[in-house]
Amino acid sequence: MANDNNKFQAIISHCKEYGFIFPSSEIYDGLSAVYDYGQYGSELKKNIRDYWWKWMTQLHENIVGIDAAIFMHPTTWKASGHVDNFSDPMIDNKDSKKRYRVDHLIEAHADALPKEQGEALLAEMDQLLAKEDFAGLKTLIENNKIKCSVSGTCNWTDVRQFNLMFATEFGAVSGEGDDNMVYLRPETAQGIFVNFLNVQKTGRMKIPFGIAQVGKAFRNEIVARQFIFRMREFEQMEMQFFIRPGTQKEWYEYWKEERMKWHLSLGIPADRYRFHDHVKLAHYADAACDIEYDFPIGFKEVEGIHSRTDFDLRNHQEYSKKKMQYFDNDPGPDGKPYGNYIPYVIETSIGLDRTVMMVLSEAYEEQDLSTAEKADSRVVLKFPPKLSPVKLAILPLMKKDGLPEIARDLMNECKASFRCFYEEKDTIGKRYRRQDAIGTPFCVTIDHQTKEDGTVTIRHRDSMVQQRILLKDVKEMVEKAIQE
Ligand code: GAP
Repeated sequence: MANDNNKFQAIISHCKEYGFIFPSSEIYDGLSAVYDYGQYGSELKKNIRDYWWKWMTQLHENIVGIDAAIFMHPTTWKASGHVDNFSDPMIDNKDSKKRYRVDHLIEAHADALPKEQGEALLAEMDQLLAKEDFAGLKTLIENNKIKCSVSGTCNWTDVRQFNLMFATEFGAVSGEGDDNMVYLRPETAQGIFVNFLNVQKTGRMKIPFGIAQVGKAFRNEIVARQFIFRMREFEQMEMQFFIRPGTQKEWYEYWKEERMKWHLSLGIPADRYRFHDHVKLAHYADAACDIEYDFPIGFKEVEGIHSRTDFDLRNHQEYSKKKMQYFDNDPGPDGKPYGNYIPYVIETSIGLDRTVMMVLSEAYEEQDLSTAEKADSRVVLKFPPKLSPVKLAILPLMKKDGLPEIARDLMNECKASFRCFYEEKDTIGKRYRRQDAIGTPFCVTIDHQTKEDGTVTIRHRDSMVQQRILLKDVKEMVEKAIQE
């Protein structure tokens, strides 16, 4: 098995070779930190998106979904704090001109130190970040003799803030100043906040309730060279849960546990995850943590859970001059209704692309299948069947003797219910290996015996076990497996 960094590189190559993920506009040498999903990647991504959507909006009866526009009124981003606060401290090396995110630069240095020393450095960094002490951060970098990986020197500029939002002009006329300026949304959450009243009133929603959304978000990331882990255009799956003020601690705990259940339901073992509580809180939060997954590049954030107080709704009320209040008819401790208030919010925010990366990392396996007689190996993607891009490969053993006709009938029977793949070319062994490489859980082979007794061979991806079952039972067997 490859070591971890090699595994990461191997996954990237595999994704390209088998139609999962390509660099965007590759014929023009690609666009940094932007990627396109191919025929199997887009299926995998859609299956993850659908699974999240169903789990959040169908299984939780008090959560509904929306689909807000990417373009939003520019004032949205003033109210949300993104114009003033959505920036990262950066530092440039004067010799190489390379720009670094300060926290990433220090973290990389800390990783190479003995454990205790590294942790002490990170603790010091966290304190300086929390105080926004930029001069202190520069001194920390210099005192620790942290060097630029390109120039190898310690010749640093001051630490500066750099806004991560992409701005563009709106409408036909350009050059009319800030009035025409819109931003590509850096998070989907604000589309939910500005629709809070619309959904609450038209859906007659009663607190506590949630609004979920999946969609594109855009950030001008500075350090963006970790494949689909950190992209400039990516997809988020977010949910804002509106609650009574004062209940945020219990709901925050509830959603931490609930979201972890979702992660475990992907079949990923608990020891591959951990919670990371934030010391430095985002401008909107009174508590926050990440769910981290053990990627081949180490434990990294895949999802954030944030107690956002009433920060967003209160600010939208102030900037829009529209009341963002909810009337709570339930009796309070004194027996009278709670009355009007601006709800508090617990947010769950997971990156779809990062989840794709997580599912790929967990599924990817290189296996040595050599025997005394011959060398052999395979790459297999052990996706949970519900997430696999293709559920069933239908393979007639030969292109004659009526076998393709039987296979085609099975294809027609199954293809409306789940994604199937039909293939006649090459030896059956080669066809199996290609399906292993894209993570198809079942292959069914139609052979001459099928014509005699109506049975087929089902081959299981993970165990490679082959079993004889009735052709008429194939559809039901696959349907059952993909529901688990
Ligand atoms: N609304 C809150 C919010 O956006 P965040 O922690 O900045 O919080 C949430 O982002 C999730 O979005 C992250 O946990 C990560 O999975 C994903 N994400 C953030 N930036 C990303 C990027 N540049 N590329 C890919 N995914 C990203």
